[in-house]
Amino acid sequence: MKLSNLDERIHVMDAGANVWNIIKDIAESGVQEEAFYVCDIGDIMKKHKEWKLKMPRVQPYYAVKCNDSLTILEVLAALGTSFDCASKAEINKVLSIGVDPSRIIFANPAKPASHIRHAAAVGVDLMTFDNECELHKIKSLFPTAKLVIRIRCDATVAQCQLGMKFGCDPEADAPRLMQIAHLLGLEIVGVSFHVGSGCQDPPVFRRAIAAARNLFELGATLGFSMNLLDLGGGYPGIKGSYIDKIAEVINNALEEFFPDPEVHIIAEPGRYYVASAYTLATNVHSKRELINHEDGSITSVMYYVNDGVYGSFNCLLYDHMEVTPIPLNAAGRKIRQCSVWGPTCDGLDQIVERTLLPELEVGDWIVFENMGAYTLPVASPFNGFPVPKVHTVIDDHNWLLLKDLHPMTEEHFVIGSTPANLHLGLDIDGRGNIDEWEEVAMPLAAPDGVANNPVPPASAGPAFLYELVEVGPVS
Ligand SMILES: Cc1ncc(COP(=O)(O)O)c(C=O)c1O
Repeated sequence: MKLSNLDERIHVMDAGANVWNIIKDIAESGVQEEAFYVCDIGDIMKKHKEWKLKMPRVQPYYAVKCNDSLTILEVLAALGTSFDCASKAEINKVLSIGVDPSRIIFANPAKPASHIRHAAAVGVDLMTFDNECELHKIKSLFPTAKLVIRIRCDATVAQCQLGMKFGCDPEADAPRLMQIAHLLGLEIVGVSFHVGSGCQDPPVFRRAIAAARNLFELGATLGFSMNLLDLGGGYPGIKGSYIDKIAEVINNALEEFFPDPEVHIIAEPGRYYVASAYTLATNVHSKRELINHEDGSITSVMYYVNDGVYGSFNCLLYDHMEVTPIPLNAAGRKIRQCSVWGPTCDGLDQIVERTLLPELEVGDWIVFENMGAYTLPVASPFNGFPVPKVHTVIDDHNWLLLKDLHPMTEEHFVIGSTPANLHLGLDIDGRGNIDEWEEVAMPLAAPDGVANNPVPPASAGPAFLYELVEVGPVS
């Protein structure tokens, strides 16, 4: 296990502590300025328990793309999930924590050749396809792969539709592709689909499972031994959402169309596992009041916080997410109409266009829940604003359940809720480092053209002379 500093470990919370009072402790430590996350491993464990309870027949293959934190992957591996990887790098990350290649599905229907070669080299042999070109690539690069045909079946309403990019038509295209695979001597073992991420149409799972059944029949006539049904992603993950309705539809459809227990049923949940586990705290570093020039009243306030759409809130653009700002400490203050903005110089960098919040001051914190899915893997430090650091916590009950499950080790945990390096005042820049620019005396670089001039001794006065210009009064 690679640990570069104490904060990458999971903090076992003090008795009675919870995510909110940890956020308060860090925010009010006096040394924290950058935005930060608190990730609750107990929330992920609760989700896993819920999944096993509600859909006992369905083996989850966590979709790594959703949040590829090494700690999350290790926790999920310890809980017994398998993994859906979309690339060579994701495969390597999962293998690096000691997961067997047989617990990985390479679920990207359009794979670069070198990634297929890599899958072959490391023994990840289960992979999806939805087009003829992919079949020819696989034939030449990994002819013994076990193939899963991805069909299209779209939810009528979903946060992110995927059908326009992936999934062949189960009636018009799939039979032809299966015949081509047969002619090429390839092995098709199953059917997969993804109804759309953030699915709000539970009955779509029945439609997709029924379509998969027809292709199992066709596969049998072509001589394939089909034994895998992959239900893809689409399950909700934010606080207060439940998988009960989708689970009911799936369980009933499996009983109707796939009663044979020999058929291995898997799914690729992403946001379900991680969305609610991550809470983000952002700091108000600036504010601007918009004034009604008729009567001098404040019409609206613009708050600028230190994470935005180029960082965690990329999910507003890419994942069509909606977020709710929660002030950490503002009880009793006057309510004002406001907007919330990210820190960069781009006008697009807006987090909340219009809302009502208690009046905030510079230095106050705004918290956002449900920030674990499709946020951090995409975030960039554009304009020099760092991607927030994650403080990972667990309560002692869940710690006892998790601590001895491979690949977790004693080294993964540290006792005590508050990140150790906060006490040292080391978290000011969000990377756990003291600001080196303040600490180190930097020699001034000479501008182009004078690079070779000797640097005058300190007593010799300034190195450069400025031309003085007389400036008259501004008219
Ligand atoms: C192939 C595949 N599987 C699984 C997922 C995860 O979906 P979700 O986060 O909706 O569970 C995605 C998301 O894009 C995907 O493309």
